[in-house]
Amino acid sequence: MDDLFLKACRREPVEHTPVWLMRQAGRYLPEYRELRAQHDFLSMTREPDLAAEVTHQPIRRFGMDAAILFADILTPVAGCGIDVKFNPGPVIDDPIRKEEDLAPIRAFDAAKHVPETLQTIRLLTARLRVPVIGFGGAPFTLACYLVDGAGSKDFARTRIMFHQEPELAKKVLDAIGDMVADYAAAQVAAGASAVQIFDTWAGLLSPRDFAEMEAPVLRRIFDRIRDLGVPSIYYLNGCAALLGEIGKLGADVAGVDWRVPLDVARAALPDTMAVQGNLDPIVLLGSPDTIRERVREVLAAAGDQPGHIFNLGHGIHKDTPPENVQVLVDTVREESHR
Ligand code: CP3
Repeated sequence: MDDLFLKACRREPVEHTPVWLMRQAGRYLPEYRELRAQHDFLSMTREPDLAAEVTHQPIRRFGMDAAILFADILTPVAGCGIDVKFNPGPVIDDPIRKEEDLAPIRAFDAAKHVPETLQTIRLLTARLRVPVIGFGGAPFTLACYLVDGAGSKDFARTRIMFHQEPELAKKVLDAIGDMVADYAAAQVAAGASAVQIFDTWAGLLSPRDFAEMEAPVLRRIFDRIRDLGVPSIYYLNGCAALLGEIGKLGADVAGVDWRVPLDVARAALPDTMAVQGNLDPIVLLGSPDTIRERVREVLAAAGDQPGHIFNLGHGIHKDTPPENVQVLVDTVREESHR
């Protein structure tokens, strides 16, 4: 596919900076809330026509340059038989405590456990003119939900396992890593043009624990994606102290949160990597003039060299006024025209 987003991932020159937003499908959109009022979240992800429609909604309204599959990082976990509820964040009543609890994850088979998600991607690639981004959770971030059992401010239980039972923690990360790599491969086979790995919580790890425990598993995931022939994006929320490590993972694009200016991130990353980001999502709840000014600031920090995909520094806030998203998309187009 000869396309702005994929070109930018490969650090090729583009006529304007491509833009998409993390969590661009969802509750800030009235057309999403309308469907959501009739179906629970998990059912929506498991009904290919609905999931494809929800993926399509922001593209139709705002004209982003890429679509992200409507699913969740817990989709393969729920698919393989672990009981996951959304309330609204994920809740797992039987968290992982011992090696035997990993059996469902080790038995993950995408065709068997997430057929609806793969069908959603097939529908999307037939309907959309922009690339579809497949995604998965990073091993540590998924372990946070699987071991702690629900959202938490510090995911202490998961990090305690790193130190009390390091061998078990490594097995947990390995099992998740193999599942996510298989899931990514199945999404690409169904038509996804790129894969993003979301590491929302890895900013909690010390550089040493990140390097020793998670990085080897991430490297295996990115090696697998490289072999599939599509670009990979690694998003780490709170990446400042880990940029040196991110450069060694073998991903094509670094997703940068809003706390690190993109010129600083570029200087710390290998020049073979593209960058994605990184407007503070909260700016979208400010005035249109502030949004324009802050978008220009992100574009200026990204600089003139190829390899920037415009995005937020984290997922869009649910109270974002939709018209402000249009201001962002239009400003990126106008201000980055070459
Ligand atoms: O538009 C998109 O980006 C595609 C869909 C998508 C969802 N979740 C749908 C969703 C993606 C890429 C995700 C990733 C995800 N899920 C992450 C990583 C990115 C991030 O935001 O940090 C994480 C940590 C999760 C776990 C999760 N799922 C949480 C914490 C929550 C609840 C709170 C919230 O932010 O909405 C969910 C539920 C969820 N996943 C919703 C959606 C649209 C809300 C469900 C609803 O309608 O009630």
